[in-house]
Amino acid sequence: MSDFPVTSLRSVELSTPDIAGSVDFYTRVWGLDVVAEAGGKVFLAATGDDFHVLELKAGERSELRKISFRVGSSSDLQMLAGRTVAAGCTALRELGEADAPSGGHRFVVREPQGSVLEFVHGDIRKQAKLVANRPCRLAHVNVNSNDVEGLSSFYQSVLGFRLTDRSKMMAFLRCNDDHHAVVLAEAAANGLNHIAFLMPDLESVMRGSGRVVDAGTPIGWGIGRHGPGDNVFAYFVDPMGVVVEYTAEVLQVDDGYKVKGPSEWTWPPGRTDHWGIAPPKSEACKKAQLTIGFAK
Ligand SMILES: [Fe+2]
Repeated sequence: MSDFPVTSLRSVELSTPDIAGSVDFYTRVWGLDVVAEAGGKVFLAATGDDFHVLELKAGERSELRKISFRVGSSSDLQMLAGRTVAAGCTALRELGEADAPSGGHRFVVREPQGSVLEFVHGDIRKQAKLVANRPCRLAHVNVNSNDVEGLSSFYQSVLGFRLTDRSKMMAFLRCNDDHHAVVLAEAAANGLNHIAFLMPDLESVMRGSGRVVDAGTPIGWGIGRHGPGDNVFAYFVDPMGVVVEYTAEVLQVDDGYKVKGPSEWTWPPGRTDHWGIAPPKSEACKKAQLTIGFAK
């Protein structure tokens, strides 16, 4: 088993032009709970042991404010703080005690393509209590990049991730046994493609999707089963324009996993998933996947 300095994807922070509407969607519809409000942010938890998986902050528009990763040791945290800056990242917050209610120590940088990354060690964990049909944690963040190879190389050589697969459009990167925690998608402009939340099982993806549809948000793509990662998916555009995914059954891999390339990740004509039942992605979903930028 590889020794990864980053051990998991923990949380993301979004700005939203309608904080009350976003909190309502992510609690009543999506299945998260508000666990804290501090520093002008609302912290929302899933049912797993992360203190929170989503931070929401009022802003002029929906933007990705940061991606937070958990680091395995304080020495690795220190090592990454030095390595990221040496690799051209801009330090936004020096290594020190976190001011968020989740605690621990952290530093924050902006990587050269513009996304803000937070690295945390020693943050508060809660007792996991998995509940059917509700998300247990984040599964992956998918980031648009106009230079996927450059960002993939950064994640591997600087942050210690490993490439698990490379399709024509996307690079899949892992930092633990999950097939991917970060996905990089070829795009004209850098930004957020979507955020995936892990459900306990396939049935929960189905029933959770039914709850979201009942609340007036249609499925944008799915339900289907992805190629790389073999995970089940259902995509939605949240009321503020952010694409979110319910997923389950993510492939677990180890160092023996054979990385496949673009020529091996192809679909028969007309298919976009393993099952062959997912209808074409909605135009609204396609557009939203290219609309959310990184907060400046
Ligand atoms: Fe995804």
